[in-house]
Amino acid sequence: MKKTLLISLTVILAVACHTTKPTKTVATTVETVKDVPSDSLAEVNRKKNLYEQHCMSCHDLAKPSSETEREWRKIVPNMVAMINKNGIVVDAKVEEDILSYLILNCKN
Ligand code: HEC
Repeated sequence: MKKTLLISLTVILAVACHTTKPTKTVATTVETVKDVPSDSLAEVNRKKNLYEQHCMSCHDLAKPSSETEREWRKIVPNMVAMINKNGIVVDAKVEEDILSYLILNCKN
C-alpha cells in the first residue's frame, strides 16, 4: 500500500517536473534580459533563435554577458563575414538582430 503511494507520487513528480521545464526556459530568458524597453519577449526570443541558428555550427555559443557591447560590435561583423564567405547566409537585418540580442545582455 505504502509502496504504491510512493510510486504514484514519484510518477506525479516526474511528470510535473517534465511539464514545467519549457516554462522555466522562457522565464530564465526574461530574467536575464536587463533592459528591454520596446522589445517584447517574443521579439527577444526571435533574435535569440537567430543567434542560436547561425552561431553554433563552428563553436559553442558564447554567453552574451561574456563580451562588452564594444566587443560584440567588432566580433559579430567578423563572424558574419566568415559565415558569408561563399554567399550571403546572414543578411544585414539578421546581423543586426543577432547583435541587438547580444547587446541586450552584454558585459558592462
Ligand atoms: C564559420 C564558422 C563560425 C561561425 C558560423 C561562427 N563563428 Fe565565431 N568563431 C569562429 C572561429 C574560427 C573563431 C576563432 C577565431 C577568431 O576569433 O577569429 C571564432 C570565435 C568567436 C568568438 C571569440 C572571439 C574573441 O575575439 O574572443 C566569439 C565570441 C564568437 N566566435 C561569436 C560568434 C557569433 C556571435 C557567431 C554568429 C554570428 C559566430 N561566432 C559564428 C568561427 C565561427
